[in-house]
Amino acid sequence: MLKKTLESILTSKESDELISAFDQVGNIIIVRIPDSLLSKKKLIGETLLEQVKSAESVFYQSSSVEGEFRTRDLEILAGDDKTETEYRESGCRFVVDVKKVFFSPRLSSERIRIAELVNDDEVVVNMFGGIGMFSIIAAKKKKCTVYNIDINPAAAKLCEKNVALNKLVGNVITIHGDALEVIKNQLENKSDRTLMLLPEKSDE
Ligand SMILES: C[S@@+](CC[C@H](N)C(=O)[O-])C[C@H]1O[C@@H](n2cnc3c(N)ncnc32)[C@H](O)[C@@H]1O
Repeated sequence: MLKKTLESILTSKESDELISAFDQVGNIIIVRIPDSLLSKKKLIGETLLEQVKSAESVFYQSSSVEGEFRTRDLEILAGDDKTETEYRESGCRFVVDVKKVFFSPRLSSERIRIAELVNDDEVVVNMFGGIGMFSIIAAKKKKCTVYNIDINPAAAKLCEKNVALNKLVGNVITIHGDALEVIKNQLENKSDRTLMLLPEKSDE
């Protein structure tokens, strides 16, 4: 249906490309648009908003995921210019701000895989934990304690909110700071398992 509608403004190859570069997070759509189609970005945004009934906003992702906080630049194309939404995964609820923090709906099977590896009664340190996706899903599935560390204050704030939303206060502990410093000062030799989901910093 979406492909058919997009084909009224794009070629079949262009609409396939666009659909694979499209993510929905709660009621927000984020779309990457190739340079060759940028002149049609408003029309693409309006078409997506009209077709995807659960969407309230469509944003164009105008940069890659970058910087210390691993965030991206977003430009509103259609609908409400608000970047916070609620997203559900694996029986958990998450408040996400798609502009202020890192978030990817494409990691959902990796999050389940990691949660399955955790054993009951383990202490887990999640060094680059973001808004708590991996930590909360693991703590919902296993009786573990997870320290979720992130250097981005917005991510730490949302993690705290998400921990409460999922009734995991005391099971997931949110810490705002540089993981290296936090571990040195508070958590050295305290974990059974450490998650380092930021490859470029994992060897420091
Ligand atoms: C690729 S994101 C992963 C976030 C989370 N694991 C997820 O999948 O949603 C990496 C995260 O590491 C955080 N980060 C970067 N450097 C950090 C540091 N030195 N200490 C703690 N967190 C850091 C960023 O703010 C970002 O939220």
